[in-house]
Amino acid sequence: MTSSIAENELQSHFEATISADLRVEPRDWMPEGYRKTLIRQIAQHAHSEIIGMQPEGAWLTRAPSLRRKAILTAKVQDEAGHGLYLYSAAETLGADRGDLTDKLLDGRQKYSSIFNYPTLTFADVGVIGWLVDGAAICNQVPLCRSSFGPYARAMIRVCKEESFHQRQGYELLMTMMRGTDAQREMVQESVDRWWWPALMMFGPPDDRSPNSEQSMKWRIKRHTNDELRQRFVDMSIPQAEALGVTFPDPDLRWNAERGAYDFGEPDWSEFMQVIAGNGASSVERIANRRAAHENGAWVREAATAFARRASTKENAR
Ligand SMILES: [Fe+2]
Ligand SMILES: [Fe+2]
Repeated sequence: MTSSIAENELQSHFEATISADLRVEPRDWMPEGYRKTLIRQIAQHAHSEIIGMQPEGAWLTRAPSLRRKAILTAKVQDEAGHGLYLYSAAETLGADRGDLTDKLLDGRQKYSSIFNYPTLTFADVGVIGWLVDGAAICNQVPLCRSSFGPYARAMIRVCKEESFHQRQGYELLMTMMRGTDAQREMVQESVDRWWWPALMMFGPPDDRSPNSEQSMKWRIKRHTNDELRQRFVDMSIPQAEALGVTFPDPDLRWNAERGAYDFGEPDWSEFMQVIAGNGASSVERIANRRAAHENGAWVREAATAFARRASTKENAR
């Protein structure tokens, strides 16, 4: 009886924190559903950051100049850092890092479907920076105000770096567009392949997005999938015009009444296929991740051996 009164008080304190737009911190009481939703979302986000190193990482050894190689190396390293902040944020909720890795490797946790598409040309490096990091920014800027403190704070730093990523991608494409016809064609061909997968990054339409409503109530999310997708389309069109490329969507046109662009429907059956692990690069991505994890076993063993020794010494004092 007493415990249920206490529980009610904790619940109303939690709700008051959320509605006052204050942050929930790791040691605060929180409903189990909130904790589970956050662990799932943050883990999926962390996995996306590190799996996302692969499509562009594949071009590190084939970058056309030392300058491009240095930029791309910095970008790919940033993504590893994003993964680290996010895994750390998940750990503050009581998640175990090793357990999250196992869930990624055996498919119990997902990562963004965008990273299951292959990178076929160097233009893909530019288009990923422009459109994929651009879509990530649209998704992540509102997360800087997410109700869970460690997630919100991680997002502030991540977003600063993402905006550098987007600019480097756009600058690379600008350079290619000032080059030869073959380079311009390469950029357009790449845009044609990435446009629809980029729109899918915002998740299924609102009426088919099962977790959205509760996440909005908890202020983990601030905007619906469709709102963010619209924002991304409206933002990208002037950038495409400045660049001199088009998007492969015959339904794309300005709607003066709505004050926004109308656009076509992504192929959601393709999205479901890729989510189910049938993307062109799905098997390769997980195989690479597994190999990296296995090759890193000695580092984890050495690190924990040192930590064990340090704590025994500490206790002996
Ligand atoms: Fe990132
Ligand atoms: Fe990025």
